[in-house]
Amino acid sequence: MTTVTLEAEGSVLILRDGGDQWRFHGVWLRDNAQDPATRDPGNGQRLITLADVPQDCRLSDAQVIGDQVQITFARDAKVVQFATHWLIAHAYDRTQDDTPGRLPLGQTAWDSTLSDAVPVGALDVLKTDPNALRDWLANMRRYGFAKVTGVPVTEGSLFEIVALFGYVRETNYGRLFEVRTEVNPVNLAYTGLGLQAHTDNPYRDPQPTVQVLACLENSAKGGENMVVDGFAVARRLQAEDPVGFDLLTRYCARFSYTGSAGMALHSRRPMIELTPDGELQAIRFNARSVAPLVDVPFDQMEAYYAAYRRLSALIDDPAMEVQFKLASGEAFVVDNTRVLHARKGYAGAGTRWLQGCYADRDGILSTLAALEAAHGPT
Ligand code: FE2
Repeated sequence: MTTVTLEAEGSVLILRDGGDQWRFHGVWLRDNAQDPATRDPGNGQRLITLADVPQDCRLSDAQVIGDQVQITFARDAKVVQFATHWLIAHAYDRTQDDTPGRLPLGQTAWDSTLSDAVPVGALDVLKTDPNALRDWLANMRRYGFAKVTGVPVTEGSLFEIVALFGYVRETNYGRLFEVRTEVNPVNLAYTGLGLQAHTDNPYRDPQPTVQVLACLENSAKGGENMVVDGFAVARRLQAEDPVGFDLLTRYCARFSYTGSAGMALHSRRPMIELTPDGELQAIRFNARSVAPLVDVPFDQMEAYYAAYRRLSALIDDPAMEVQFKLASGEAFVVDNTRVLHARKGYAGAGTRWLQGCYADRDGILSTLAALEAAHGPT
């Protein structure tokens, strides 16, 4: 049984349904009216601005008609109907979660125990089976990384992965960049340096939000890839040192890249970024790119460095990392706002040749949402 009543002189609608109740303000109802004068029936876009919304949005009448709630605005007698289920789905009169450091909806924190269950999809299947693509994209949303197998061992084939969900983001490094190392066959003791796990290009604003790395050849010994869940690391830091966590969220770091002629990329962003209501939004961590930190107050700098040092140590903790070696024809995709990636050291004769490119995670989330709407959730 659904009922509606008005209170506060008609400025608030109360909807009751099955023992629950939600309040809605007149101004919110007017702004979100679903009628064709307010919303384009074709593309769903709003046709009005707030200047078209009267200051006085009090209601003179409200009633339930079938599965609709019909309201009348007092000032101009405008009548609008809302589907009851739409109002309930969009109710904001509820307990809002503002726990700092919480994971975004649909994400799961992980550590090295995910090593046995690395999400993976075969390129030819992802191209032809929408359910398989939906499941692979859902894993990208949940874990922030996934592998792809069956990628043609040809230059530029990584673009076929990007085409599954979006568009290449070109940078000064090109549409794609080469990650190629010939390990010195004369000196077998030579060891390629490992790299600490990092996010790419924190000196860009906005930073690239997705990175794709595809392997064309990997005959050297070692050279494994590894990934770390930056959100899991941030939450571990928060659990053991909430004050340090707070410092890394509250003050901006600086990142710079001036390594190429004509380039001077600078950003001013926190290492751990939260939304204004506390949800984890992004991690930026890249020791090679940190510029002098000048936005931390003098009396907080030592504590900031202690937290930064601890964050770095947690990133290096093997218990947090998932390792895998890419064979030729394999690739992995990371959400560069969340998951850090690294290369282990390598040795022996051989060639390690990967190609990388950037893309954006809005394409992943949009393609996933559209597939879920068409084919149901995973
Ligand atoms: Fe990188």
